[in-house]
Order: sequence, then C-alpha cells, then structure tokens
Amino acid sequence: MQDLKLLKTLYEQRLLGFRYFNDIKSTSFVKSDIKDMPSSLPELWNYMSDCSLCNLSKSRKTIVFGEGNENAKVMFIGEGPGELEDNSGRPFVGRSGELLDRIIQNVLQMQRKDVYIANIVKCRPPLNRNPSEEEALKCKPFLMKQIDIIKPKIIIALGSISYSYLTGDMDAKISKVRGEMINFGSSKLMPTFHPSYLLRNPSAKKEVMSDMLKVKAIL
Ligand code: URA
Repeated sequence: MQDLKLLKTLYEQRLLGFRYFNDIKSTSFVKSDIKDMPSSLPELWNYMSDCSLCNLSKSRKTIVFGEGNENAKVMFIGEGPGELEDNSGRPFVGRSGELLDRIIQNVLQMQRKDVYIANIVKCRPPLNRNPSEEEALKCKPFLMKQIDIIKPKIIIALGSISYSYLTGDMDAKISKVRGEMINFGSSKLMPTFHPSYLLRNPSAKKEVMSDMLKVKAIL
C-alpha cells in the first residue's frame, strides 16, 4: 500500500517536471507530495520552516520563502537567495532586486506588492554558487505548491537556472529560449534574462523589455 502511494507520488511528480536520481531518499518525496502540503502560503511557510531536506539548511541563516500577492497574476522565479536575501529573509533585495523592481514598475506598470517573487531554492547556496540538481529537486515541491496556491497567469523564469529546473530542460540556453512563451501547467511561462546578468550586460535590457511587453500584452 505504502509502495503504491509512493509510486503514485513519483508519477505525479514526473508529470510536474521532476527527474529522479537514485540518491534521493523516498522519504523526501513522501514529505514533498504537494497534495499533502497545506494550501495557504502562511501555512506552507510554517510547514517547511524547519526544512533540512538538503545541505543548504546547514549554512543558511534564513529560509527565503518568497513574498508578494497570494493572488498575483505574475510570478517571478529567480535562482536562489544571495547574502542580502539570506540576512533579510526577502527575495531579490540589493542591486538585482532594484533592477527587478524597475522592470515591474516601468515595463509591467505594476508594484512589487502586486506580483509574487520566489526562487528555485529557498536557502542560500554557499558563496552564491548555482544550486545543485539535488538541492533544486528537494526544494521544488514547495515551489510547485506555491505556484499551485497562487495560480499565476504567467510565471517569469529569471535566467537559465530557473528555466532549466522549472522545465527539466537542463541543456537550455537562456539566450535561445527567452522571449518564447510556453505552457506550464495552467500558467504560461516566459523565460528571460536574470537581473544580475542585466547588471553585467546592460545592452540585454532591450530583450528583457521586449519579453516583458509580451507578458504585459496577455495580462
Ligand atoms: N536574489 C534572489 O532572491 N534570487 C536570485 O536569483 C538572485 C538574487
């Protein structure tokens, strides 16, 4: 009976875009069955507030759960918290956050409080390295549950890490996939450049502007 439940969970997770590795213990998937998770954001936050499913829990200061409007039409998903986010508990603070705020205000003509902002992983990877596949997969059910609760009309994947872990397409190049809206469950998904990339490559802002205008057109 327990095995059947696990098998059903694995099939459901695969439909949601998961890939499986032998070294992930089945118990983590039982806990991560999104149907068993609380169905409001505050309760979900509380449910995972002592999460230790991966090694990032050992070095984090704060779980950066995500923030914004529970009924947001637009959800931004970045990679993972940096130092400022780990200290403050809030996603996208600092220079990349200021740029994201400007994109939200100037292009989408919305406020940060109108959208929802989260990350692929909720705990800071040491030295701001990319999250590992195992870390991303352990955290993904919580993100999928957030998406399930918020039901955004459109999800904006910021950068290739976000796009790859959301879609399972690990070889995707963001410069190739950006700007093309795809279906993602009952939402749309728009991949675009990460704000940190824009800080290093300001000339790519025009592409992001064009991507965000496509988003604005469907809101
Ligand atoms: N801050 C975040 O919260 N996420 C990122 O991807 C980068 C900075």
